[in-house]
Amino acid sequence: SLVTLEQILKQAKAGRYGIGAFNVANMEMVMGAIEAAEELNSPIILQVAEGRLRYSPLPLIGPVMVAAAKAAKVPVAVHYDHGFDLALIKQALELGFSSVMFDGSHGPLDQNIETTRKVMTLAAEFGASVEAEIGKVGGSEGDYAGVEIMITSVEDAKRFYAETQVHALAVAIGTAHGEYKVEPNLRFDRLQEIHDQVAVPLVLHGGSGLLAGDFRRAITHGVSKVNIATASFQSIVKRMYAIFSDNQGVTYFQLHDAIRQATYENVKEHICIFGSNNQC
Ligand code: 13P
Ligand code: ZN
Ligand code: NA
Repeated sequence: SLVTLEQILKQAKAGRYGIGAFNVANMEMVMGAIEAAEELNSPIILQVAEGRLRYSPLPLIGPVMVAAAKAAKVPVAVHYDHGFDLALIKQALELGFSSVMFDGSHGPLDQNIETTRKVMTLAAEFGASVEAEIGKVGGSEGDYAGVEIMITSVEDAKRFYAETQVHALAVAIGTAHGEYKVEPNLRFDRLQEIHDQVAVPLVLHGGSGLLAGDFRRAITHGVSKVNIATASFQSIVKRMYAIFSDNQGVTYFQLHDAIRQATYENVKEHICIFGSNNQC
């Protein structure tokens, strides 16, 4: 069933497990992700990032995600990831997304707070939840490429939450989007401080490339939502290579199955690490 981010993250925070937020680009990925969540009796978040809408147009991918969530046997939140454009955020809400992210992390904190408050008001009209970000996660985020990591400060997190009351807060603790070229220096100490002093469910971006132990530690120290994108896309590419390398007569539907199956396996693996299995 379709649920808000607020609902499932509240439960995750109380139950001390993490919920995977998996980026999807097409119907096959949506199918694979939901199949995995249903098999493991796990809540799940499906998301599409604004920066990828040229591949998966919002009015097409949105209804697929919402319909799949509604039909699912487990709770599914449908989330708009790294939103920068308020008109697109509004469009996502109109399409039935149960949650949206406004990413104002690249501008000044005051401006981030001001726009996040506007998005809170807008989302409330649709009964949807809001995620925001402070500090800077590394790597590329939409139009922002090669972002330098800026660790979130406890004071900023406190003030931001007091003034916005967002339902989920993405913090920068040393992770980066995409693959890691050098081993990340994860600030679990800072994560714990924020968790102790700010009552909001925390979000970890840049999940791909981290180790199972990193995920478990992040969840122990307060993370409730873990974003995974690159790992899913890479698992599909890997499967495609395998199909083409030993088969001359590949059919379209083998490719379709490869996308679904790779996503299914990748999502299953992460659900087990995050501990959200059998939490429905
Ligand atoms: P990765 O691509 O590193 O998994 O990051 C995902 C993410 O943060 C999506 O918002
Ligand atoms: Zn992200
Ligand atoms: Na990453």
